[in-house]
Parts: sequence; structure tokens; C-alpha cells
Amino acid sequence: MSENNRIKRVKKYGIDLGERGIYDTRNKLNELTGKEWVYFTNSIWITGYSPTAKENVGLKYRKIHPSPKPPGLIKDIVNFFTKSNSKILDPFAGVGGTLLGTALAGGDRLAIGIELEQKYIDAYKKTCFVEQMEIMPIIADDSLNMLNYEIIRDNEFDLIIADPPYSDMMNKARTGQKAKLYGQKVGTPYSENKNDLGNLPKEQYLQKLREIVELASSRLKKDKYFILFCKDFQPDSNSPNILHADIIYSINGVGGLQYKGMRIWHDQAMSLYPFGYPYSFVMNQIHQYILIFRKG
Ligand SMILES: C[S@@+](CC[C@H](N)C(=O)[O-])C[C@H]1O[C@@H](n2cnc3c(N)ncnc32)[C@H](O)[C@@H]1O
Repeated sequence: MSENNRIKRVKKYGIDLGERGIYDTRNKLNELTGKEWVYFTNSIWITGYSPTAKENVGLKYRKIHPSPKPPGLIKDIVNFFTKSNSKILDPFAGVGGTLLGTALAGGDRLAIGIELEQKYIDAYKKTCFVEQMEIMPIIADDSLNMLNYEIIRDNEFDLIIADPPYSDMMNKARTGQKAKLYGQKVGTPYSENKNDLGNLPKEQYLQKLREIVELASSRLKKDKYFILFCKDFQPDSNSPNILHADIIYSINGVGGLQYKGMRIWHDQAMSLYPFGYPYSFVMNQIHQYILIFRKG
């Protein structure tokens, strides 16, 4: 072993990883250094994955979906909440943001997805094929049936990443929201399927989401994390539509999950629109909530 390759110890528990900083050998959560860990705890997260960014693999095929997550963003989440050889479950896999992000994170991690719509699964597989990436297991079914599958029932997971639809609010395009995001019209439903959470009114939506969260967390190891993406909608005369708070109150305690905090993700790929201009204030919501729960 050359002098440069020799492990440089720092005090009792530290290993000097050069520019990356010091890795603490007591770290049970991930393989990050102290400075990388602290950077991730910033409550605001600003990213801009342009359609051509290297980590936005296969967007050309994935953009048939109304809200694909950037695999690079998921890679950072996977790297923070897991170590190498971990298993990750995504009950709303879409066109595979979590599966691709896990592949980008490497370290022999495995992600398993469930997705209702075959067309999204096909787009994920096409992305892997064209980009020559490993195809992770993805089941075509309603997540309520997840325990019917051995690959889920007989596995224990180190992380769950759930990016569910936002109840049927997503289907209601509002004035001015005709613009395109990632090639799809805002307000496009994921499917016509009656089992799709995106086609349920809020109370039924929250009930079904709770059931799916409970099933998924029954396969999550103790002390491990459950991540949930969501966003709010424009307030209206019936409701302030603060969906992220409804979801936190609705699933806190379900399956032993405890709410631990959130990161607000500002997606720089979103454009600003003059919704209420020049008459009234209408918010441009260009952020999403990344809600963090821990099974304790
Ligand atoms: C916000 S999208 C997830 C996008 C995904 N993170 C990606 O990067 O492509 C939500 C997905 O959940 C799927 N879905 C809705 N209800 C479902 C259910 N009951 N079981 C499984 N998937 C469902 C929808 O078809 C949609 O693709």
C-alpha cells in the first residue's frame, strides 16, 4: 500500500477522506463525512436538473410521466439515508426516479418499485436499456397488494421513498396552468385507473395513503427512514389545501413512523407564471416537501 492509500486516522473515530472531510467510524446511517452530513441537513434544497443534465438519465423516455423525479436528487437522498448493500422500496415508482437514483448511488444497493401503470414501467425499462443501466425489480400492481409479492414480503428494507400522487387536486388544471413542465401539461392525470390515488378525493386519498404507508412500513427495519414527497395546492374557498400538513398528521404514528422534519425542495426546472397578474396575488409554487419519518 502506497503512502497516499494508507488510511489516515483522525483522533479516535475519524478517517480523513481528503477534500470530502472526516468520516466518523461510529456513523450508523451512511457513508458520508461530517461536512457532507451537515450539508444535507439544510432545510432548503435548491437543485436545477436541466433536461440534458447527466444525472437526469433517459428524460426523453420518462417525460411521458407528468412528474418524474430527477434521479440525481434521489441519489443524494439514498446516499444520505443508507449505506452500501441497502435495500430501498418505492410504492409509487412511476418512471423509476428512485430505481435510477439508487443505481446512480451504486454500492450494490437494490431498489424495488411498485407502479400501477404499465406504460410508466415500460418507460423506465426503456431508459435502463438505452442508458445501459441495471434494471431493478418493478411490480405492476396497486401498492395495496404489495405483500402478495415474495420479493417484498420476504425482504426488510433500509429506506422507503414514497412519491404518491397529490390526491385529485393534481387533475384540476387552473387558469394559466396550460404551460408544459417536462413535456407534459400541468394538470395531466397519471391514469384513469380507479385505484390510482391521484383520482381520489382528499379524505379517501388520505385513508388509502395511510393503508399503503402501513403496509410499506411493516417491511421497514427499525430505526430506518421513510421519505415522502408532496406539495400543497392553491388555497380556495373550501380549504387552505395545505396537503403536506394533512399528510403529516394523517400518517404520523402509522406503522411506528415518527415525523422527524422536512426539507423543502426548490425545483429550479419549474418556471414562473403570471397566474393572477395584474389583479390579485396567486402564488407560484415552485417547491415540494420532502417529509422525513423514522420507524422507532
Ligand atoms: C408522483 S408519481 C411518482 C413519480 C416517480 N417518483 C418518478 O420518478 O417517476 C406517483 C405514481 O404513483 C402511481 N400510483 C397511483 N396510485 C397507485 C397505487 N395505488 N399503487 C401503485 N402506484 C400508484 C401513479 O401511476 C404515478 O406514476
